[in-house]
Amino acid sequence: EDSRIHDIKNRIRVVPNFPKPGIMFQDITTLLLDHKAFKNTIDLFIERYKGKNISVVAGIEARGFIFGPPIALAIGAKFIPMRKPRKLPGEVISEEYVLEYGTDCLEMHVGAVEPNERALVVDDLIATGGTLCAAIRLLERVGAEVVECACVIELPELKGRERLNGKPLYILVESY
Ligand code: PRP
Ligand code: MG
Repeated sequence: EDSRIHDIKNRIRVVPNFPKPGIMFQDITTLLLDHKAFKNTIDLFIERYKGKNISVVAGIEARGFIFGPPIALAIGAKFIPMRKPRKLPGEVISEEYVLEYGTDCLEMHVGAVEPNERALVVDDLIATGGTLCAAIRLLERVGAEVVECACVIELPELKGRERLNGKPLYILVESY
């Protein structure tokens, strides 16, 4: 277990001052280049969520679209994309969230999730927690139960976990 996590952490490239000064960008594309590390990442999530009666995996644009679908397929759940504004063609519900400067928004198709479904939210990384918080709100607005949020990386110093209103968060790697 530890060796799998260790290998995953080593495959994430940290790029200083990207996309702007002061940001230490956590680049998961280098993890995807290594078949074993990528597979271990997905396997760790599958081991955790298999048999937990999760009916829907919600992946957050953009990098939640990389990690979410293989988990959904393996645990027998459907996949839904949570997208940035004006990308989804059907009727949507929206949730705004606060960024360092200004706000952003996530949208979900109406009818994609039924009331009482059990949902898992997947993204690559939690920073301030605003994005995951918006995803949780979208699912709860349509009556779904958010079982857990799962990310590859957490930036613990930003205390994003505290914005999830007690929702459990599972992560593989912490980055300081
Ligand atoms: C990054 C990251 C998470 C989000 C985390 O995505 O992939 O989705 O920020 O930040 P938070 O916890 O402070 O909300 P970003 O919004 O940069 O967009 P992208 O995934 O489409 O590149
Ligand atoms: Mg993102």
